[in-house]
Amino acid sequence: MARFTPENLELAHEIISRYPRKKSAVIPMLHLAQEQDGYVTNDAMAHIAELAEVTAAEVIGTCTFYEMFKTHPVGKYVINVCTNISCQLNGGEELLEHLEESLEIRSGGTTSDGMFTIEDYECIAACTEAPCLQVNYRYFHRISNDEVDEVIADIRTGKLADTIPEHGVLQRVRQTIPAAKLAGVAPPEEVVDAPAWMVRNEPILAARAAAKAAEEAAAKAAEGNAD
Ligand code: FES
Repeated sequence: MARFTPENLELAHEIISRYPRKKSAVIPMLHLAQEQDGYVTNDAMAHIAELAEVTAAEVIGTCTFYEMFKTHPVGKYVINVCTNISCQLNGGEELLEHLEESLEIRSGGTTSDGMFTIEDYECIAACTEAPCLQVNYRYFHRISNDEVDEVIADIRTGKLADTIPEHGVLQRVRQTIPAAKLAGVAPPEEVVDAPAWMVRNEPILAARAAAKAAEEAAAKAAEGNAD
């Protein structure tokens, strides 16, 4: 696998025809290749180079520049767990560890049934909704360990098939943010209270602070007993 199938070759020619220069069609064709095979194969890159009349090195350079293009097989569902600063402070690393344990793979790995790949990700631009992750680039905000277990179970039973297509399938499903998770954006002059996301996160932060204080108190008590 795989050069383009006859159907996709036809589509690739159609894509090329939309641009004044064939080279401009490289990225859309990479998406097409990834949709066809789940990742971009070496053969697909060679085929794209032929079609776009560029060198294979140019296609490889473009493909490997973008994190969303995979050059190796990945699971049908790629889970990107953000562990950058905002998510890290709100449990992102614990979320990643939880997933590693429950799926029995390390970050970067794929489950033996080919269903899930986990990736330790840098900021995915939803810092106010930390901790968050993406499944095939669909966002899950302020997600807990239990909620992520639910997402995994729902994917396995096909319950989320309409909202999360398999890896590589792009632009076929429109995403919507539930009202309860909207950031509450408003013009500055209309903002009288704390931002909606801050208010929403208050109970979570308070619970975490209480848990941390209890942990520290327990550690101090243990130290005292040791003395
Ligand atoms: S730090 Fe996680 S989304 Fe920005």
